[in-house]
Amino acid sequence: MRAIVNTKYGPPDVVKLMEVDKPAPKDSEVLIKVNATTVNRTDCGFRSAEYFISRFFSGLFRPKLKTLGNEFAGVIEAIGKNVTSFSVGDEVFGFSGIKFGAHAEYMTIAENEAITTMPGNLTFEEAAPITEGGHYALCDIRAANVKSGQNVLIYGASGAIGSAAVQLAKYFGAKVTAVCNNKNVELLKSLGADLVIDYTTQDFTKTGHLFDFVFDSVGKSSFGQCRPLLNKKGIYISTELGKRSENIFLALFTPILGGKKVLFPIPKISKEDVILLKELVESEKYKPVIDRKYSLEQIVEAYKYVETGQKTGNVVITLTK
Ligand SMILES: NC(=O)c1ccc[n+]([C@@H]2O[C@H](COP(=O)([O-])OP(=O)(O)OC[C@H]3O[C@@H](n4cnc5c(N)ncnc54)[C@H](OP(=O)(O)O)[C@@H]3O)[C@@H](O)[C@H]2O)c1
Repeated sequence: MRAIVNTKYGPPDVVKLMEVDKPAPKDSEVLIKVNATTVNRTDCGFRSAEYFISRFFSGLFRPKLKTLGNEFAGVIEAIGKNVTSFSVGDEVFGFSGIKFGAHAEYMTIAENEAITTMPGNLTFEEAAPITEGGHYALCDIRAANVKSGQNVLIYGASGAIGSAAVQLAKYFGAKVTAVCNNKNVELLKSLGADLVIDYTTQDFTKTGHLFDFVFDSVGKSSFGQCRPLLNKKGIYISTELGKRSENIFLALFTPILGGKKVLFPIPKISKEDVILLKELVESEKYKPVIDRKYSLEQIVEAYKYVETGQKTGNVVITLTK
């Protein structure tokens, strides 16, 4: 089968399209013919090993994980002998996390992991990007205990995580203020944001509003900058570590002090989360935003684009001809 192989850590062109052996499902696994996948920021991080910590999962000196890609949508081609919840021919989507493997024509995943059947109203290309931004957003919104009527500000609202967070915060009943570049204002309104701040013309820290939760989904702000925007018990979460990893340290001691606090939740995903995201897609409360689509052959271009840090929503890789 054809797969994108990570030959060494480095820039986008270290990945190569190669012929490799087709995987065989273990007893509790399914074999999926991948019709669509994505290139996301996690793929970029593991490919470049920019953060050394990723090497503890993917190999200290060279990548042991040969094929990246953690979001997938496709069709089950074979099942292991103990699999009971899926059948050959089922159309599925999901998230393989740091086991990756989706940048290939075929991949395997255990039936009890983050996989479920396709939502009836999306194509494979539309379904592939449901999970990454969706589950990070879900995890952070849950950590902040967002409730109906609360005021939430989402900075970097047009990224994969941000665009999911706007829709999911609305689902949890929040009043959402989204901060983005001028070109994405209409998109954010269409995703349900109650107020959109164009950061090219307006300073988001000077709106005069106070928030229960400030979520920096692109990690470009700091707690110091956002602190004045928070209510007395307001919560700040960033998807990045911050300057000198300050968000980790702030998350350790600000919750003890009892006032405004920083949280740094460790993202995780379950099958139940994937099923919830599917239900939200089917009830039209959540739809992943797609920016560009590339073929498997064009994956280096896709990586280069994702690494500009300027994609809007998600970048999809299409494997069907
Ligand atoms: N903590 C974790 O486990 C984890 C996991 C995955 C990713 N991440 C991190 O989470 C972040 C978001 O990931 P993502 O995939 O959602 O990102 P993304 O899709 O690459 O974000 C791109 C968006 O960021 C916005 N942006 C870029 N520079 C900005 C700035 N200076 N101010 C405001 N907005 C800016 C752009 O919007 P405009 O065009 O509107 O400016 C663009 O739409 C990344 O930093 C990634 O490394 C963390």
